[in-house]
Amino acid sequence: MNILAIESSCDETSASVLANGHILSNVIATQLIHEQYGGVVPELASRAHQQHILPIVERALTDAKVPKNELSAIAFTRGPGLLGSLLVGTSFAKAMALGLNIPLIEVNHMQAHVLAHFIDSPKPTFPFLCLTVSGGHTQIVRVDSPLNMTVIGQTLDDAVGEAFDKSAKLLGLPYPGGPLIDKYAKEGNPLAYRFPMSEMPNLDFSFSGIKTAIMYFLRDKTKTDPHFIPQNLPDICASIQHTLVQMLLTKLKRAARETGIRDIAVAGGVSANSGLRTALTQLGEQQKWKVFIPQFEYCTDNAAMIAMAAQFKYEQGEFTEQTVSPLPRMSF
Ligand code: KG4
Ligand code: ZN
Repeated sequence: MNILAIESSCDETSASVLANGHILSNVIATQLIHEQYGGVVPELASRAHQQHILPIVERALTDAKVPKNELSAIAFTRGPGLLGSLLVGTSFAKAMALGLNIPLIEVNHMQAHVLAHFIDSPKPTFPFLCLTVSGGHTQIVRVDSPLNMTVIGQTLDDAVGEAFDKSAKLLGLPYPGGPLIDKYAKEGNPLAYRFPMSEMPNLDFSFSGIKTAIMYFLRDKTKTDPHFIPQNLPDICASIQHTLVQMLLTKLKRAARETGIRDIAVAGGVSANSGLRTALTQLGEQQKWKVFIPQFEYCTDNAAMIAMAAQFKYEQGEFTEQTVSPLPRMSF
């Protein structure tokens, strides 16, 4: 059984081929055009997807050494994401499935981030909790089976990836700033500066307050010392990262306590953050959790996770009609 999967929800065009549970290829084209604008420009993103999609799909098939006529199904990200970006992947997948006369499988991008844990071993056992942290989402998900998951906590405003990126922008760093904060934080003192952590009563998060606190902090410091940012960049980055990671882990700890679940996973672009990976590993040892952290390649947006999710659907016979259209706000 060979599945070709396509991911185009935001600013990465990706295609992957999976054969009987194994990823044979995972090709990703990242759009660099957005850097100069300090964030993803939706119209430019969909145009870049149009340029990339055919060569990326061809490369994924060539790398996997699977000819088109040996494909069993075509999977695609239906949502959530940017409408124009999703339209490119959805239309391409529909046309290809129609042309080859094979089934079409829609995948929820956030579910796919969770199911990226089934690409490699060791795999979590059900039920497990997954902290899904990306540029658009921050969720704690209770996963009872591959296709049965529930969001038990989420952000009420900004996503944590957005908090990383917006903080980086305030520091004059280019988009996406999350990986740069991570890089500078490695050299800095995480306790150099303190930022207030928002206190939500349940398992939900709020990251808009900290962004504002960082903005005022930098405004006040640079008023008296114009060189404050360049001279203290590692300490500022380490302190921001420490605060954001602590906010995530406080809620994760609470979710584990309330559900009694000890298999704990992390997924999504921000799970590439080295501060989060280290802190989660340490917390896991302390709490006697089994912690699952995906390979870097499967943390940020990629089609391998879409292929993995699609395989579970294929096994259940969950196929999609040709009348399907993208769902920018798709939930589960
Ligand atoms: O999952 P993803 O690739 O795309 C979305 O679905 O949003 O996540 C992208 C987000 C961006 O906000 C990016 O800055 C953040 O993940 N990110 C990081 C790191 N690598 C990616 N944030 C902090 N540290 C990193 N190393
Ligand atoms: Zn994502």
